Amino acid sequence: MRLVLLGAPGAGKGTLASSLKNKFGLTHISTGDILREEIKNNTPLGQEAKKYIESGGLVPDDVVTKLIEHKFLNDKQTELGYMLDGFPRTKQQAEDLDKILVNIKLPIEQAIYMEATLPVIIVRLIGRRVCRDCGELFHIKNKPSIKEGVCDICEGELYQRSDDNEETIKTRLDVYVKNVTPIISFYEAQNKLIKLNADNDSAKLQENLIRILNEDKKLD
Ligand code: AP5
Ligand code: MG
Repeated sequence: MRLVLLGAPGAGKGTLASSLKNKFGLTHISTGDILREEIKNNTPLGQEAKKYIESGGLVPDDVVTKLIEHKFLNDKQTELGYMLDGFPRTKQQAEDLDKILVNIKLPIEQAIYMEATLPVIIVRLIGRRVCRDCGELFHIKNKPSIKEGVCDICEGELYQRSDDNEETIKTRLDVYVKNVTPIISFYEAQNKLIKLNADNDSAKLQENLIRILNEDKKLD
């Protein structure tokens, strides 16, 4: 399977990717996660990305596209299947991505458009907690950790992302709305778009997606 996950901040892209990764052995590529790792390591790229992420804006297209190209050229596991999460985010990124993937003969098969409503998105983002060590995602109501503030998987500390505050969430959503339509049209025109109701809980969401992919005979 070679998939792109599209959806608003908080739609559940990372959560869905993490369960599909375990089920199907796909490589999960999240530009947000890669950039946060660069920030954590205080690299020049991290220092550059920090100002965009903390304000809720987008990191420039050429910077993120180079990151993605580097990942595909250097990680042979991607040949076995991948899920892109948070990329592409502009029409330019979608076009450049197609060129990269066609060149290496790993074109996208399906673009999954995760549609979630605003109240659901807000609750998910405000309540999200992330493990500082392994990146596992939690939610104070929807998926609480057994011990408050501690990761169930590795016992790392859970934290709230610096961009999960009301003001930055508003900017992130505005940026998303401004950019998403041409991306949707881009994949619709290629007959690759699958729409998924992302207000559903994780189990239902996954079940629906697997059923649709099966019907499409994309699972073998
Ligand atoms: P990024 O990290 O990609 O953030 P995002 O797109 O805003 O999406 P999120 O990670 O916030 O949401 P998600 O859909 O993954 O939801 P999650 O599964 O965590 O990007 C961050 C920043 O990096 C950007 O703002 C930008 O600055 C920069 N950047 C990244 N990519 C870029 C690019 N391509 N170009 C330019 N800049 C880029 O779920 C959220 C919560 O809800 C969790 O707590 C989870 O437990 C819960 N939850 C999830 N699904 C469900 C469900 N079905 N039912 C109940 N609860 C659920
Ligand atoms: Mg995410």
